Amino acid sequence: MNARRIVSAALLAGALTPALVWAWPWSQDMMNQPSVKPQEGAPRPFPAHSVPVQGIPTPYNNREETKDLANPVPVSDASLHQGRTLFRIYCAACHGLTGQADTPVTEKIGAIPLNDDYVQKQLTEGWVFGTITFGSAIMPAYGAPQKREGQTGSNDLSVEERWHVVNYVKHGLAKEAAESAAQAQAQ
Ligand code: HEC
Repeated sequence: MNARRIVSAALLAGALTPALVWAWPWSQDMMNQPSVKPQEGAPRPFPAHSVPVQGIPTPYNNREETKDLANPVPVSDASLHQGRTLFRIYCAACHGLTGQADTPVTEKIGAIPLNDDYVQKQLTEGWVFGTITFGSAIMPAYGAPQKREGQTGSNDLSVEERWHVVNYVKHGLAKEAAESAAQAQAQ
């Protein structure tokens, strides 16, 4: 056997070694445990209220499609309370705590007041829902499951949360703004 043969025999043995090692009975016994293996048995159902990572898709494409939607969430104290909390987190920075467009950001971005007739009377509840979902000309989206090209925003608010915000904008905000104005005058 010359040196070259020895080298190639060694290489061949090396190449075969993993296969040989795998074949020993004790090579696999760590795998044979009573634990459930991947893909074994029927797939388990997702726990209740699980949300896919990309969010729950909204079955509408734009505000035109949402503008005539009926609000499925009745106006109640609980809904107004939740809407108010979410409004203060997601909307107040631009539109003001009571929707009066009076924050330092308002002017810079051109956010409009939400208490005047335009929003309170002209815009439908479905349109406000669509504005929160898809954003507006400048306003970012708060319910866009996947980022589409040219779209800013996120999927921060669930469908139900958006309707709570709509309830608050349409049925709580103007009243609260009037109350806070009266309070300011009394002082
Ligand atoms: C980053 C700033 C910003 C935030 C936060 C914001 N908005 Fe706006 N919003 C705007 C601006 C700017 C406009 C006016 C220009 C436009 O239509 O984009 C507007 C317009 C609107 C309109 C009128 C839409 C129309 O058709 O004329 C509604 C209703 C509204 N916002 C509601 C909300 C609600 C509810 C939230 C909270 C979920 C919110 N906005 C959060 C900036 C913001």
